[in-house]
Amino acid sequence: MADVATYQLLDGKRCGDALRVEIAAGAAEVKAVRGREPHLAAVLIGDDGASRTYVESKVKACESVGFRSTLITRPASTSEAELLALVGQLNNDAELDGFIVQLPLPEHIDEEKVTLAIDPAKDVDGFHPENIGRMVLGLPCYLPATPAGIMELLKHYGVPTAGKHAVVVGRSHIVGTPMGILLSRNTDPGNCTVTIAHSRTRDLASITRQADILVAAVGRPEMITGDMVKEGAVVVDVGIHRIPDASKKSGFRLVGDVKFDEVAPKCSWIAPVPGGVGPMTITSLLLNTLKAAQR
Ligand code: GUN
Repeated sequence: MADVATYQLLDGKRCGDALRVEIAAGAAEVKAVRGREPHLAAVLIGDDGASRTYVESKVKACESVGFRSTLITRPASTSEAELLALVGQLNNDAELDGFIVQLPLPEHIDEEKVTLAIDPAKDVDGFHPENIGRMVLGLPCYLPATPAGIMELLKHYGVPTAGKHAVVVGRSHIVGTPMGILLSRNTDPGNCTVTIAHSRTRDLASITRQADILVAAVGRPEMITGDMVKEGAVVVDVGIHRIPDASKKSGFRLVGDVKFDEVAPKCSWIAPVPGGVGPMTITSLLLNTLKAAQR
């Protein structure tokens, strides 16, 4: 008898589309009350192809929910002082509810300095220390888009989390660290017992095999293999990588940090790449921008 897959997909496109209907209604209400749409600006420095694709999809998503959006592009040669001046200008622009500066920035620009320069009230990425501190304390804030999107995805599909052991692989400021905090908070979803694993973790597979919920945010293509996952686990793949593939018209295919074909048959739920976390990240950015416009 052929194997029958028993896993269910955490479909970020479907979940995101459902949320975007509500966001569009919120945008219409803002327009009626304030006389203008919510307005997001995105700053892109340099000409990295992947960053441009991400920023363009953020701008396109704004149009789909009735937001105004502005894409500001500057050459890779832009100085740190010039970018800080632009950030100052955007902080003071009354026609703008929120903005993001797409990362990574060229090496000669200090990302921390730029993040600190953004007005926390307009920091719809949720990267400013004030927003991160407020998140840790459970105070109203802008949540970082990727972990917030994953929480929305778990909520939408009613995945039980309370009391579960969540293993987050990766400790970046924008995904792994906030993911651990959100999963451990006294909320629903939440109330997980969290382990953060990283490049110095010994015997990673023995840790990931203990996970009821495994969030892979490593940044290495297909690193999480079938033998690293417990039967019945919930797996959320945050990675997105272009792998050369001559059989595709584009010349590449997209894979995540998880080796899907090996891992999915062991899962109860899995968020695939593409179509899992990616659309939810953008939806979270829209939610934060709507929140900014409602303030
Ligand atoms: N680079 C990768 N992810 C993100 C994100 O969520 N926001 C910004 N500004 N840059 C990124």
